Amino acid sequence: MTMRTTIDSYKTRAGRLDTSDIDFGSFMDRPLSPEGLRCLRYMHDIEHHTVCYLRDLLLTPAHRDPDVTAFLSCWSYEELWHGEAIACVLEAHGEEAGAPRIARLRSRRPKRDLLALVAKLGLSTTAGDAFVALHMTWGAVNEWTTQAGYARLASLEGHPVLSELLKRIMKQEGRHVDFYASEAARRLTGKPRYQRLTRLALRHLWRPVGSGVMPRSEVAFLVQHLFDGEEGRSMAARIDRRIDALPGQEGLDLLGRAVARTR
Ligand SMILES: [Fe+2]
Ligand SMILES: [Fe+2]
Repeated sequence: MTMRTTIDSYKTRAGRLDTSDIDFGSFMDRPLSPEGLRCLRYMHDIEHHTVCYLRDLLLTPAHRDPDVTAFLSCWSYEELWHGEAIACVLEAHGEEAGAPRIARLRSRRPKRDLLALVAKLGLSTTAGDAFVALHMTWGAVNEWTTQAGYARLASLEGHPVLSELLKRIMKQEGRHVDFYASEAARRLTGKPRYQRLTRLALRHLWRPVGSGVMPRSEVAFLVQHLFDGEEGRSMAARIDRRIDALPGQEGLDLLGRAVARTR
């Protein structure tokens, strides 16, 4: 698919997550496990942090490409509503969520933000297109892991209402995957220099989504809970194989190493 058809098909499908028929009240009778809620707090914070990632990304050469910015506009809108939906689950458990929680998160002193670092790296190189190829690859890895994380959480909790909600979120994450992964493959193909830059950045800088924002203990917990154990490890290995299939990115073992680091 060309960039045009990829972005046009995404743009027309993008939209606010429909939760009008989700029975959030059911969590009062059948609450989630403490571990599941701990994962959801993380996911809530990270979905709501998307707009901050967007701020960093728009400072990079990515902002020059109107198709990329069209994607990012719709993407950040969809991620916002994922955060809102998860907020409803947390609130149904009597927890504070949404604006007050997000405001507190942003007022905390930011940790080293890897994405901002990569963005600066992109700016310091004169190669704008190489940076966009890296950004698309980075995005694909993050969307793959996010989607897999939701799938694992749904399976661990076995809660019908949560499963339905996460299924809808995962469908949208799947479209984010499609865009980032197809763009990554297209932009890396036949470009050994872009492949090397991307490989270098992933190998040395990539960390699980949210690592730059959430406390280390929460990142370790989330990775352990969702990606360790037999089912989790096979999910992580599947993502590593997808990364292997991208031009010049084979053998990075990003997920495998991330899981090992948290042990
Ligand atoms: Fe999302
Ligand atoms: Fe996403």
